[in-house]
Amino acid sequence: MANKIRKVILGLLCLLFYLGPSSPLQHDTLVQGQELEFMAELYSAYGRFKLGFTNVGGSPFHIGIWYNDNRSLEDRIVWLANRDSLVFSASSLTIDDNGSLKITNFGSDSFVLYSGHEASDNVSAVLLDTGNFVLSEISSGRQLWQSFDYPTHVLLPGMKLGVDRKTGQRWNLTSWRSQEVPDSGNFTFGLHPNRTDQLVILLHGDIYWTSGYVNVNSSSFRLLTNSNYSFDYTSNENETYFSCSAADADYTKLSINYLGVLSADKGAIVDCTSASSYLNEGCVAKENLPCRSLNETFSRVFGSWHDIDGFKFNEGDNLTLMDCKAKCLNNCSCVAYASTNEENQTGCEIWSTGPGIASTDASMRRTIYFLVKNVANRRVNKWWIWLIMAVGAIIISLLCFLGNAKWKKCRVEGERKKKQKLLIQEIGGNAIPSTVHDKVKKQNKDGQARHELQIFSFESISVATNNFSTENKLGEGGFGPVYKGKLSDGPEIAIKRLSRSSGQGLVEFKNEVILVAKLQHTNLVRLLGFCIQEEEKLLIYEFMPNKSLDFFLFDSTKKHLLSWRTRFNIIEGIAQGLVYLHKYSRLRVIHRDLKASNILLDEEMNPKISDFGMAKLFGSKGLEENTNRIVGTYGYMSPEYAMNGVVSIKTDVFSFGVLLLEIISGKKNNSRYHFEDPLSLIGYAWQLWNEGKSLELIDPTILEESRPPFEALRCIHIGLLCVQDQAKDRPTMPDVVSMLSNETLKLSSPKQPAFFTNTIAEDLGVSEIKPKNCSINSVTISVMEAR
Ligand SMILES: *[C@@H]1O[C@H](CO)[C@@H](O)[C@H](O)[C@H]1NC(C)=O
Ligand SMILES: *[C@@H]1O[C@H](CO)[C@@H](O)[C@H](O)[C@H]1NC(C)=O
Ligand SMILES: *[C@@H]1O[C@H](CO)[C@@H](O)[C@H](O)[C@H]1NC(C)=O
Ligand SMILES: *[C@@H]1O[C@H](CO)[C@@H](O)[C@H](O)[C@H]1NC(C)=O
Ligand SMILES: *[C@@H]1O[C@H](CO)[C@@H](O)[C@H](O)[C@H]1NC(C)=O
Ligand SMILES: *[C@@H]1O[C@H](CO)[C@@H](O)[C@H](O)[C@H]1NC(C)=O
Ligand SMILES: *[C@@H]1O[C@H](CO)[C@@H](O)[C@H](O)[C@H]1NC(C)=O
Ligand SMILES: *[C@@H]1O[C@H](CO)[C@@H](O)[C@H](O)[C@H]1NC(C)=O
Ligand SMILES: *[C@@H]1O[C@H](CO)[C@@H](O)[C@H](O)[C@H]1NC(C)=O
Ligand SMILES: *[C@@H]1O[C@H](CO)[C@@H](O)[C@H](O)[C@H]1NC(C)=O
Ligand SMILES: *[C@@H]1O[C@H](CO)[C@@H](O)[C@H](O)[C@H]1NC(C)=O
Ligand SMILES: *[C@@H]1O[C@H](CO)[C@@H](O)[C@H](O)[C@H]1NC(C)=O
Repeated sequence: MANKIRKVILGLLCLLFYLGPSSPLQHDTLVQGQELEFMAELYSAYGRFKLGFTNVGGSPFHIGIWYNDNRSLEDRIVWLANRDSLVFSASSLTIDDNGSLKITNFGSDSFVLYSGHEASDNVSAVLLDTGNFVLSEISSGRQLWQSFDYPTHVLLPGMKLGVDRKTGQRWNLTSWRSQEVPDSGNFTFGLHPNRTDQLVILLHGDIYWTSGYVNVNSSSFRLLTNSNYSFDYTSNENETYFSCSAADADYTKLSINYLGVLSADKGAIVDCTSASSYLNEGCVAKENLPCRSLNETFSRVFGSWHDIDGFKFNEGDNLTLMDCKAKCLNNCSCVAYASTNEENQTGCEIWSTGPGIASTDASMRRTIYFLVKNVANRRVNKWWIWLIMAVGAIIISLLCFLGNAKWKKCRVEGERKKKQKLLIQEIGGNAIPSTVHDKVKKQNKDGQARHELQIFSFESISVATNNFSTENKLGEGGFGPVYKGKLSDGPEIAIKRLSRSSGQGLVEFKNEVILVAKLQHTNLVRLLGFCIQEEEKLLIYEFMPNKSLDFFLFDSTKKHLLSWRTRFNIIEGIAQGLVYLHKYSRLRVIHRDLKASNILLDEEMNPKISDFGMAKLFGSKGLEENTNRIVGTYGYMSPEYAMNGVVSIKTDVFSFGVLLLEIISGKKNNSRYHFEDPLSLIGYAWQLWNEGKSLELIDPTILEESRPPFEALRCIHIGLLCVQDQAKDRPTMPDVVSMLSNETLKLSSPKQPAFFTNTIAEDLGVSEIKPKNCSINSVTISVMEAR
């Protein structure tokens, strides 16, 4: 039954997709000379938004932008081109020879959105998946006009609220006139008209609600920031604005309705129409204004106070805290207010100027709200200063104590460290190619951020793993088994025991130890230490309770544990880890063996890249290098590397692309997928992409979540960019990170990817070294190329 429903939903989604662009990137653009006629519509690249004629609110013939989903039109509409003037049904939206964007009716202009000045033939307008409709010059890409600059009643992530200081243009939201009439109404939400440090809702130009000024963390401003939006404040000589971004890529908009209620998708955030709820924080009654300046806010202080009576309005029943605040604001001499009943916040007591409120250690504790910037306030500050100083003193003495203890410990450990150093230096020794060696040495001299490597005895590890028992075995890596262990006094650890017969000799061992010891990033697994004893070589890592990505991703019973949010987080984490390896780690490191089984997951499912046995160091000069030792994993290797041994950072980008597609689809690259058509996952993704059916690639367990697949589709797009045949076409990892984090960034179309069908792989004569108990996907191959 559930399966049936899923099929129907999937079918509907696909239908939606077919009704939309037959392939993404079409039908989102209005070209110069073209007319968007009545009933015609533009779709954003992934079909998230539509632009066209709408009869929103029952008043026909507005041009607008709306979410392309099944909510009511009033809920979906995010922008109107001509909210205060209707156009006729025979109208069309067009870009004329001068590059003007306008609505015309039988050849006459009825509404001009942007007026171009001179004849041009290189202008087009694109509806983006952010909901922005952008007019720009094709040749230069210069943006001429965008709908985000002319907000109506909805704020989408990426829009601004504020003022352009140069042109004087203001960005604000204006409510509808009534529930049905979308024309400009009574309420405006934007920057304070005479100040630049707070957001206000105006009713006929008078303050109706205020956020409090931005550098006081006022509670009413927090109402906004608690709404899953974060507001950033930017002010420079050109512009002053608040911009919002959504924490969640779900459908998100902030809108003001005809009653002045500000809402996010999930409900009201600011509502000054109801007298009771906490939502009316920041609401300003008109009569408060005469003796109060707008920057006055209250700060909440909980502490011990003299039981000095204020003026009690009403001790028992019907006054709420908000009513009490209003009482205080209405009384010009009021400096503080509080509820008389702490538990249910009823009753009201206010205090006027003069001495009287002072803190003592004895007497009662209660919450009192003090006016900021006042006599009483200064006292309060003093009280806080004392507290801060006391806390500071405690912290300092604590630090001194710890420091002292540490110093003693240091002396005791000095000897042990010397030994350790010698060993580590030896590890950095002769088997490393000379250029790399120099680099390592230099870094040693800097002595910066080297973390302490511990040298373990073989016996202690043997005990920790219960003599390398099979119960403690976590899995089999390319170069030997990995065990879980528990040190007698310490944390759980993971131990990689390099098998004697493995390809990983002393060179790889040193390579890995040196590398991992130096690399420190949250998305890289941390090496705790190592152990060399005769033939035994062990690497000791922090333990990752959630094993590796392949353990979840390719297991039909576990993959539902990877929600789309988790997967996206994993994708971003891996990308960040790679950016660090490629760019910021000072050593340029190319991992060369990125694959699902090398992505470990911590208890919060954060990804950590592991297995640096085959990583390659690059000096800053070499961007690309030929290697005669090709190591890597079939299915993840880029063509230039697999065939010609050319290694560059783009080798990892390719593997990342494959991994990305695997994470989205929940399928292995080299497992067969479509019976008639034995393409690899890359080939399959490319085929679906070209047919405009990328949705089918997405793991059905993701589609079961209610979230729209927009982000996933974008990830497929990025994945295909990463696996392009030509290394130079592939983006760099920093590019990938910005593509992932910036939804508004327009992506180029991917070119034909390199994909191996199984037959081609056989033709290559790739030989495989296949350890026991190992799925085909995690096989690491090693090819010696004759050159
Ligand atoms: C919209 O579609 C979703 C799933 O596709 C469904 O759960 C929801 O009930 C629909 N809403 C309306 C108003 O039809
Ligand atoms: C383009 O601009 C020129 C001069 O500003 C004007 O004469 C001409 O009518 C315009 N063309 C259109 C199609 O508006
Ligand atoms: C195309 O754009 C460039 C600048 O971006 C402009 O100089 C040129 O005049 C435009 N082409 C035409 C034919 O107007
Ligand atoms: C809101 O924006 C419009 C258009 O820029 C402007 O005319 C109006 O003055 C603004 N209102 C406020 C209160 O800032
Ligand atoms: C808007 O203001 C006008 C004039 O003050 C008033 O008649 C109307 O009821 C107001 N509309 C709303 C929705 O409050
Ligand atoms: C802004 O300043 C103007 C001129 O001083 C004043 O008339 C107007 O009431 C002020 N607006 C607000 C909301 O304080
Ligand atoms: C407001 O809060 C932010 C973050 O909590 C903090 O960095 C900032 O200093 C606070 N501003 C004031 C004026 O307290
Ligand atoms: C914020 O998002 C979470 C998760 O989507 C949701 O549960 C919560 O209600 C949202 N909060 C608001 C104020 O919309
Ligand atoms: C302000 O605008 C000028 C010219 O457009 C630009 O050079 C300058 O960098 C801008 N300043 C900021 C802080 O963005
Ligand atoms: C608050 O406003 C008053 C007058 O309106 C002004 O004198 C004072 O400097 C302002 N304080 C701050 C912190 O902006
Ligand atoms: C709040 O508590 C006070 C004292 O405990 C009581 O008299 C009053 O009735 C309560 N009010 C409400 C609304 O519960
Ligand atoms: C509270 O109750 C008193 C009488 O019991 C009444 O006079 C007063 O108006 C009420 N206040 C509010 C805010 O309802």
